[in-house]
Amino acid sequence: MTVRIEPSILSADFVNMEAELARIADADYVHVDVMDNHFVPNLTFGPQMVQRIQAVSPIGLDVHLMIADVDRWAPGYAELGAFSVTFHAEATAEPVKLARRLREIGSRAGIALKPGTAIEPYLELLPEFDQILVMTVEPGFGGQSFMADQMGKVAAVRAAADAAGSELWLQVDGGITLDTIEVAAAAGADTFVAGSSVYGAPHAGEAIAGLRAAAAA
Ligand code: DX5
Ligand code: ZN
Repeated sequence: MTVRIEPSILSADFVNMEAELARIADADYVHVDVMDNHFVPNLTFGPQMVQRIQAVSPIGLDVHLMIADVDRWAPGYAELGAFSVTFHAEATAEPVKLARRLREIGSRAGIALKPGTAIEPYLELLPEFDQILVMTVEPGFGGQSFMADQMGKVAAVRAAADAAGSELWLQVDGGITLDTIEVAAAAGADTFVAGSSVYGAPHAGEAIAGLRAAAAA
């Protein structure tokens, strides 16, 4: 299994972003949390900031949109060159149409599910997406505790993807630490977002290496 570690800059120092991006150059992708204080009760930044992150980041951008109106806003993140754009299933009535648009523009297309959202309606749509994000906290804030009760959802996606011979990346986001990453990997996740456990560590590169080793164990 290929393991991908994606530090979340939600836990970085926003006014020293270029240096904060350099700290995680050993990671696979940088996870960029966009929040609008509407879909979630928190606010980060929008396309102008993400465009600058794209310009200075040594690694590709995995954009996680925690915003309403994704049909309007998501294509812009693909257009600015993000490697991957993930929108929430709860934020659009037409996830397949939006995913196709993102792929046409040239980014990977991801769909995210909040903890309370059932996976079943999406299992037959897997070929339409490059990534599924199973949230392991309620979206909105870093530093929350991992919800192990989401592992059934992860296992259901893994089983369906394997049965279909799909290359889908299975991402988990929220509360990923050295203590929880093995559980998520065992359930079938292969792409791990980690905010506080990477940026809160004295040496981000060592934290990334530690997570990578624990996920592969
Ligand atoms: C939460 C964000 C996460 C957050 C994870 O809504 O989507 O990406 O940064 O932070 P940790 O790893 O601290 O739980
Ligand atoms: Zn996120």
